[in-house]
Amino acid sequence: MDVMAAIKGRRSVRKFTGQPVGKEALLKLLDAAVWAPSGGNAQTWRFVVVTDPERMRRLRMVSPGLLGRPPAAIVIAQDLALAERKGGKMGKESLAKMDSAMAAQNILLAAYEMGLGTCVVASFHPGAVGRILKLPDHILPQLIVSVGHPAANPPPPPRKFEELIWWETYGGQDCS
Ligand SMILES: Cc1cc2nc3c(=O)[nH]c(=O)nc-3n(C[C@H](O)[C@H](O)[C@H](O)COP(=O)(O)O)c2cc1C
Repeated sequence: MDVMAAIKGRRSVRKFTGQPVGKEALLKLLDAAVWAPSGGNAQTWRFVVVTDPERMRRLRMVSPGLLGRPPAAIVIAQDLALAERKGGKMGKESLAKMDSAMAAQNILLAAYEMGLGTCVVASFHPGAVGRILKLPDHILPQLIVSVGHPAANPPPPPRKFEELIWWETYGGQDCS
């Protein structure tokens, strides 16, 4: 699939059919995730895949933003102790978050190409998610990506190009 077609066609999906997502497909999404860039090539992500229906139910209970009963989720966590060792304060407090977002976008685009629906979710209780997944204290969940077969593909929320982009300086015009 053309990259721009994937970037523009992907939507946040919040309605899923009950059909499970196979392990092979999930592995492909994880392969996409680990090929994301990371600050200083730190690769401090830790991914936990959840497909067990009971664990998914518990995850939903502590994640108000996890909508549409997806059959699977990829929790993107960060080893913050390692992130600090590799990148100091900036590594722990800022690069780790950005790295998680980069990995998430790779998952979303790969899933879209595969006909799967996803939604990136930040609205969850990190402590409760950590307990459900048995994460050690230094591994912090940062994003959840829901994964499933889309029951509906929502229309694109518009992007306001002219309000978002400037040339050379903020407020500057395109003089070309
Ligand atoms: C950092 C981040 C956190 C988000 N958290 C949630 C969430 O908790 N629940 C949810 O349903 N959508 C969440 N979204 C999805 C956005 O609502 C969605 O990307 C936005 O409305 C644009 O729609 P689109 O993804 O279809 O282009 C999140 C997106 C980002 C980037």
